Amino acid sequence: MAKLILWLLEATPKLLFASLVILILRGALWALSLFALAPLSDPLRRLPGPRAGYWGNHFWELMDPNQSPKTHDVWTRKYGQTWRFHGFGAFDLRLITFDFRAVGHVLNSPSFEKPLQTQRFLSRLIGQGVFAKEGQEHRWQRRILAPAFNSVALKEMYPIFVQKAGELREGWDKIIGPSSSSMPYPTPPSTPPPGRRDGDNLSVSSTKNIPHGIVLDACDWMNRATLDVIGLAGFGFHFDSLTDRCEQVCAAFRRMLRAAEKPPGFQELFAVWFPIVEDILPSITTKVIRQSRKVINNAGRRIVAVKREEVAQALQTDDAPARDILSLLIKSNMSTDPARRMCDQELMDQISTLLFAGSDTTSLAIAWCLHHLSLNPQIQKRLREELQSLHSVEDMGMVDSLPYLNAVVQETLRLCPPAHSTIRVAVEDDLIPLSHPIELRNGTTMHEVPIRKGSYVHIPIEGLNMSEDIWGKDARIFNPDRWMYPERLPVRHPGLANVMSFSQGPSSCIGWRFAILEMKVFISTLARDFTFEPVAEIRKFNTIVTRPYVKGELEDGAQLPIRVSRSHDH
Ligand code: HEM
Repeated sequence: MAKLILWLLEATPKLLFASLVILILRGALWALSLFALAPLSDPLRRLPGPRAGYWGNHFWELMDPNQSPKTHDVWTRKYGQTWRFHGFGAFDLRLITFDFRAVGHVLNSPSFEKPLQTQRFLSRLIGQGVFAKEGQEHRWQRRILAPAFNSVALKEMYPIFVQKAGELREGWDKIIGPSSSSMPYPTPPSTPPPGRRDGDNLSVSSTKNIPHGIVLDACDWMNRATLDVIGLAGFGFHFDSLTDRCEQVCAAFRRMLRAAEKPPGFQELFAVWFPIVEDILPSITTKVIRQSRKVINNAGRRIVAVKREEVAQALQTDDAPARDILSLLIKSNMSTDPARRMCDQELMDQISTLLFAGSDTTSLAIAWCLHHLSLNPQIQKRLREELQSLHSVEDMGMVDSLPYLNAVVQETLRLCPPAHSTIRVAVEDDLIPLSHPIELRNGTTMHEVPIRKGSYVHIPIEGLNMSEDIWGKDARIFNPDRWMYPERLPVRHPGLANVMSFSQGPSSCIGWRFAILEMKVFISTLARDFTFEPVAEIRKFNTIVTRPYVKGELEDGAQLPIRVSRSHDH
């Protein structure tokens, strides 16, 4: 025994040294394969595409929404509909395609999934809801969620859109003050504008008085309104963020989003590949996200318990259960195989998912719409004239069938898609079919792109929505008329609602009808009674979604100041 211990003591440094050498060798082999050997056999090498230095990337050109339209335009002219570009370096070749056939294949084939990094990012933020899932688990969650988004469910939720749009209109009406026909220069609002609270670190004031009319931050107001809508329609919860009582769940959610919107630091990027880092030494962002999720989860637990009870009681007494998404989800969950039902945590994760996916996106879409109306007084006037013929916004059928309102909403979604692009990774080797073959440098033509397991494919949502090849010469112009003449629309556009903004395929937006209807109610309510004028040059930036900022004021974050006055005062 003593001999063995002695031998071990003597051998330990040698063993440690040997382990270290093996580790370094393995690391070196991994690096050699990743940076030098694997790229040599990457089939994407044969494709045309822009070049950069070995460590150079093309993210800025392709992801910055102030650059990307021009980049897409120039590079598709040069390289065709499908090309490759540098991700984190020349060793990380990625595919981007504007070819509908290729896009359809990638978004629908089981050979492609959301990358693990995206799944991890989403689970850190919103838990294990449908957005963060793939494969069988994803299909199962989607099936349980489906009844909450059908047309019957939408009809039940419609009054919530009307109620919240009405509250917003009244709020603006109060802020604008007495009619300008009797008072040309509105006095400042008597109560502080809804916007700032302790702990709710809003960088932008919601309102600002200027000599003629009132300047409102459309971005902030719409954010509050859509959060209220998803609270009520999603799970019967009153956030009250429009009335400035934004309670603690609302504040926690906003804090969480704001933290997640910051560009990731080195530690967070590193943690995407090695999540253990964040467990040992969490970054400030991670701490904020965890604290906020705790608040949201605590409230979620209470909401789920109450809703479970309500649904069970309603089913016992043969009453119809409440029609919010969570109640419908619980009901749908109860009718599935008991072994596969969602547990409370999974239900709570769906709540965070809906909050995340359903509020910011729709609020931005409405804000972008008001922006385009402000830039186009003729379109605004024509829309208002159509809206003035509307008997009541409460009539869902009528609102939904107004042609010009529909055209304005569709055109906004086309030109300002809140999700700039999406990404998939090949989970096995595959061949991507093309409708526009690629001309290779050696003179041959490629009809399908071979792609190997682990390669990324970027789907340029905004690029496809703005492509001149698809939409014609006026693709970058806000022209709702293109939707009034169906014969002018591109034939068989594959995205939901004829644009790519909601993506397509099994992971496309489950809430697209909800979003379009909500947009229509808010725009019809606001554009009928108010007039919008631009007050600043607005640019776009991407943080999870595409947000507006005032040119030269990026450090102030997302804002979309717009001058609002009553339409009958004009
Ligand atoms: C204008 C508003 C909206 C836009 C532009 C939008 C856009 C999108 C897009 C592009 C995706 C797919 C992302 C990908 O493929 O990687 C998506 C997924 C999703 N959206 Fe929306 N969305 C909007 C509103 C909503 C609303 C109102 C809800 C719910 C109430 C919602 C719930 C979801 C969910 C749950 C997913 C994940 C679906 C899945 O993975 O199966 N969205 N959305």
